[in-house]
Amino acid sequence: MINEYIQANKDRFLDELIELLKIPSVSADPAYKDDVKNAADFLKEQFVKMGVDRVEVMPTAGHPVVYAEKIIDENLPTVLVYGHYDVQPADPIELWESGPFEPVVKKTEIHPEGAIFARGACDDKGQMFMHLKAFEAMLATDTLACNAKFIIEGEEEVGSENLEPFIRDYKDMLKADVILVSDTGMLAKDVPSITTGLRGLSYVEVEVVGPNRDLHSGLYGGAVANPINVLSNMIASLQDENKHITIPGFYDDVLEISAEERAEMAKAPFSEEAYCKAIDIRQSEGEASFSTMERATIRPTLDVNGIWGGYIGEGAKTVLPSVAHAKISMRLVPNQDPAKITKLFQDHFESIAPDSVRVKVTPHHGGEPALTPIDSDEYRAASLAMEESFGKKPIPVRSGGSIPIIAMFERELGLKSILLGFGLDSDAIHSPNEHYGIYNYYKGIETILLYYKHYSQIKK
Ligand code: BES
Ligand code: MN
Ligand code: MN
Repeated sequence: MINEYIQANKDRFLDELIELLKIPSVSADPAYKDDVKNAADFLKEQFVKMGVDRVEVMPTAGHPVVYAEKIIDENLPTVLVYGHYDVQPADPIELWESGPFEPVVKKTEIHPEGAIFARGACDDKGQMFMHLKAFEAMLATDTLACNAKFIIEGEEEVGSENLEPFIRDYKDMLKADVILVSDTGMLAKDVPSITTGLRGLSYVEVEVVGPNRDLHSGLYGGAVANPINVLSNMIASLQDENKHITIPGFYDDVLEISAEERAEMAKAPFSEEAYCKAIDIRQSEGEASFSTMERATIRPTLDVNGIWGGYIGEGAKTVLPSVAHAKISMRLVPNQDPAKITKLFQDHFESIAPDSVRVKVTPHHGGEPALTPIDSDEYRAASLAMEESFGKKPIPVRSGGSIPIIAMFERELGLKSILLGFGLDSDAIHSPNEHYGIYNYYKGIETILLYYKHYSQIKK
């Protein structure tokens, strides 16, 4: 019955996602403020059509939250779905083969059934929308087996800063038994996996100031500290030859993982060769005595995200710049605290600055790491759902990405999140030509339906 409903409405499910993808809901850029609101209204309209008990576009100090619910029986478990309808900026726009907000379906090597190309196709509109469509199918066929609540925000890509007070203010409204999220990935199309860990984030901007104006690099060069040279040296010193981060105290709280658990993790299929080939590098690189997978998931990092200063126009201009800047991110692992790490960075960075310059460190938004245990009913339901839809038991894997609100949900609502993601690393989230496989889209819908089924059965 439900399968027939999906079959009969498959094309519309895709067309509606395409409509949503046409709305440029870029949360970071104020120029798109109205579009962000339009995306929220679009979702509200979807919920209205499905016939929920309640749906509202709720204001925050920033972009609004879409909240919807359907309570069928107070005695049944409640699934709270979280997702985000905002997207990353599309630039560099010239590297897109088609418009970032003009979705097109194209076949790729990995997605011979076709993939939808658009900003947000995978992160997170496509994955979030699977939950609406699964929910619609359950409502329409009268097979919804759990109460359902939806909290879909418009500020995930800018740090979810206004969602934290929101969930604190609406604790009662958000009461649930589990949070279900599709905003992560899986190992491969035929290798289902469930994300059991997310890294946290500390993000800082640094400024190194030298002379009070740009100087002639012939007249002054060699005698006056060059802020770009100084900044480069300072950044270089933040890692030693083993790619170990040199900030004192940086590793103090890192939760070391047992040899057994590392051995278990190492069983996940991984090809170093395919990894390098996919991003066109000759070899990977990272912290000594950890594998590539470990470096990208269970170990903290420090990366320069952007660096600028001086003359970057055409030709050569001989200038000794007055200022240099960089944006630096540190991915954190359980139990590192972003505020503490930011402070350690700040103190250390200031302490290593030579007297010839002044430095300023400005913290940006951060986020806490999160872990999901696998010995819970909530995880088991997800595992059974994936096993049924993919025909293979999913592998629990830690991810290197961050979703700051997950730790806040745990702290404020006392709820663990199940990270049931269907994206692939090759889907190019945050990059030009982001896409989402149509196979993954429908598989995701199927798996979500099965999650409600298994979770309600386990909870009986
Ligand atoms: N959905 C991603 C995070 C993600 C992607 C986790 C794939 C695991 C696998 C999310 O939208 C994101 O991009 N998060 C940001 C953090 C945020 C504070 C901007 C990130 O990880 O950089
Ligand atoms: Mn996301
Ligand atoms: Mn993202």
